[in-house]
Amino acid sequence: MAKKFIVANWKMNPNSVKEAEALFIGVCKSAPKMKNTEVVVCPPFVYLDRLSGIIHNAMPIGRQAKYKNQINLGSQDVFWENRGSYTGEISPLMLKDFGVKYVIVGHSERRKYLMANNEIINKKIKTALKNNLKVFFCVGEEERDEKGKYLKFLKEEIIEGFKKIPKDNLKNLFIVYEPIWAISSNKGAAADTPRNFLETSIYIRKILFFRFGRKVAHKVPILYGGSVDGKNARGFLEEGRADGILAGRAGLKVKSFVDILKSLK
Ligand code: PGA
Repeated sequence: MAKKFIVANWKMNPNSVKEAEALFIGVCKSAPKMKNTEVVVCPPFVYLDRLSGIIHNAMPIGRQAKYKNQINLGSQDVFWENRGSYTGEISPLMLKDFGVKYVIVGHSERRKYLMANNEIINKKIKTALKNNLKVFFCVGEEERDEKGKYLKFLKEEIIEGFKKIPKDNLKNLFIVYEPIWAISSNKGAAADTPRNFLETSIYIRKILFFRFGRKVAHKVPILYGGSVDGKNARGFLEEGRADGILAGRAGLKVKSFVDILKSLK
């Protein structure tokens, strides 16, 4: 069975390092041991140092060795240059120094509020991959119209995001399909169905096939995100054949995140 990836995107939460540590330690302590599954927690940048200390020093928790390889850290964004005069930005090199292995790029909230467009996202993906970071590249439409215009929109996001990225650089790339209307912070949001996800992921693989050929189309993991919880997660992985899930709200409480993990055992 192919490896599954369960990602928590904390977004701009929680408000203090104390709460961040408590949440992270809680997850580390209660996460069930799962074969062939990688759990990735993506906190705000300012907590990465402390959380990576928890992973590497094991001080506040006794059972470190047991889950050392099980929980990884990711960041919610990254800059497209390795160094230089870019006030307020965080480079891939800095992230790697903190033990960060994964980065989220292209989240719809950054597209909406922080002017991340396809060109910027493409530059970030390129630099992150060059630095051997694993990239969760987020795509997703704002609304799903019956005429299928959203498919064209998705195609453009994917083609532009991959522009000038050589095929050989793609081994660390993941696509996260997150329809914006399904993200829990949006009014009236509800999760997509596993069936729809499956159809959309086949469509995404077709795009990859035409752009990069069969091997890449087959290999790139495609995750689902949008109102995932302990009740619906399994459906996406089984019926929807997702390679993993990305959870926002459910990642902010130890219980709700661990419920997702437990539901997949
Ligand atoms: P949600 O968020 O799980 O709260 O819907 C997902 C995301 O935006 O990454």
